[in-house]
Amino acid sequence: PRARRRRPLPALLALCALLAPLQVSLQVAPPCASDRHYEHAGRCCRKCEPGKYLSSKCTTTTDSVCLSCGPDEYLDTWNEEDKCLLHKVCDTGKALVAVDPGNSTAPRRCACTAGYHWSQDCECCRRNAECAPGFGAQHPLQLNKDTVCKPCQAGYFSDTFSAMDRCKPWTNCTILGKIEERHGTEKSDVVCSSSLPSRKPPNEPEVYLPSLIILLLFISVAIVAAVIFVVYYRKQGKALTANLWHWVNEACGRLSGNKEM
Ligand SMILES: *[C@@H]1O[C@H](CO)[C@@H](O)[C@H](O)[C@H]1NC(C)=O
Ligand SMILES: *[C@@H]1O[C@H](CO)[C@@H](O)[C@H](O)[C@H]1NC(C)=O
Repeated sequence: PRARRRRPLPALLALCALLAPLQVSLQVAPPCASDRHYEHAGRCCRKCEPGKYLSSKCTTTTDSVCLSCGPDEYLDTWNEEDKCLLHKVCDTGKALVAVDPGNSTAPRRCACTAGYHWSQDCECCRRNAECAPGFGAQHPLQLNKDTVCKPCQAGYFSDTFSAMDRCKPWTNCTILGKIEERHGTEKSDVVCSSSLPSRKPPNEPEVYLPSLIILLLFISVAIVAAVIFVVYYRKQGKALTANLWHWVNEACGRLSGNKEM
């Protein structure tokens, strides 16, 4: 190992001797290797940190003079700028809103307001597309992204143009105690009948049963009366009719008598 080390030494010394004058000149005007330094007045001077701008460059005797950015201004890099950059405006009239207000070291960031998305074509915010009937908007809705429309699955429908609404489930007629009158489609809801099929049939007997009982009672009373009458008539039928006639005549006679008087 020793032999190896010693061999390049003479060559290295010779190189140093050659570079010696160059080294002197480099010390006079040193290269600004760091991106946080700049070269001026034969010196390597410090750049300004983010949030500050270069008010005065360095001189042979003084350092850089950096000053803070004003309100609504920023610089996000180590710089030698003579002024800060102005924050951009998130124009609500162009459907823009600030998602990050920014500060002296970071730019303000704008995004399109809800219901709009950024379009590269016009470099502006465009209104999100509406899904046609039969289609629903995919959720969760992505801010600053155009609507993704999906066809409604079986059992779901959408009957409107909407950029936000999902497909809605069909109405369950069974739960409402109704029957399905019309099937649902991807564009229309199920139509339930307004009648109550499972409750009306038991309702009918409830209504008719009392009247039926009364009718049966009436008929049985009439039959019993008829039977009694027949039995009675057979025993003393003629006497009864005679009595009846007598009573009728008497009643009529009284009535006519009253009229005559
Ligand atoms: C400026 O905003 C940036 C990005 O939001 C953040 O990282 C940084 O800490 C903020 N600086 C100050 C001084 O508030
Ligand atoms: C309606 O709801 C009932 C009870 O939750 C369920 O059993 C039935 O499958 C549903 N019908 C439809 C058409 O979704």
